[in-house]
Amino acid sequence: MAFDIDAYARTAAPVADDDIDYDAFRDQPLDAAVLRCLRYMCDVESHTVCYLRDLLVTPSHTDPTVTAFLTMWAYEEYWHGEALAKVLAAHGIATGADHIRSVRVRLGRRDRIAPIQQALIANLVGVDFVAVHMTWGAINEWSTHAGYARLAERAGHPVLSVLLDRIMRQETRHVAFYASQARDRLAASGRARRLTRFALRRFWAPVGSGVMPQRETRFLLGYLLGGPAGEGIVAELDRKIDHLPGLDGLGLVARAARLHVVG
Ligand SMILES: [Fe+2]
Ligand SMILES: [Fe+2]
Repeated sequence: MAFDIDAYARTAAPVADDDIDYDAFRDQPLDAAVLRCLRYMCDVESHTVCYLRDLLVTPSHTDPTVTAFLTMWAYEEYWHGEALAKVLAAHGIATGADHIRSVRVRLGRRDRIAPIQQALIANLVGVDFVAVHMTWGAINEWSTHAGYARLAERAGHPVLSVLLDRIMRQETRHVAFYASQARDRLAASGRARRLTRFALRRFWAPVGSGVMPQRETRFLLGYLLGGPAGEGIVAELDRKIDHLPGLDGLGLVARAARLHVVG
């Protein structure tokens, strides 16, 4: 079924948390490993507007359906960051504007030239860049959804589970948009398929790894993708990518797991 962008734009909203009892974490706190994963996820969600900056300088900005989606997507991801920050704050962990600014400043010169580099490459590629962008988005939203599901399972905390479940429902709609766009655009163009395959194989890395220190990416992937349960998640994510036109057999997630998950 085609994605209904008008219905999505009308119903995009901050993740509902009025009834979430954040104080419950003071009596029943999360353990250090779960909090470390939440720190990572919160920082990456709060970075969404910066990803948007880098995407609006590409041919993606000429497609009004794509920009309508991106407007709502950035809005919802912003509120994911805010909700996760409340969980961290209930544990006395630093959040707020000063922290978010520090994540951005830490990236230094590389981050300042990123939109220039991206604009040059993407505009040379032309309209097929949008297929790369949509496919990348689908993979990252699939990964994010799987990551939240696994974190909720490992944490086993009733309040966190409710909050993550609500966030995951919104991630499911993000998946639906990106995946349907990716499918259509890849199916329509051999050049888009070749370019996307090349770009993913060469440059794809786990969500947030360009923003977070390598030791944090390693920790998160180890915690979420370690053990037999993790192997199942990796295989399932790669299967989803295999089903996109022209992208079978890439094994991107398995490669990332081999690189980052020790033992
Ligand atoms: Fe999100
Ligand atoms: Fe998302």
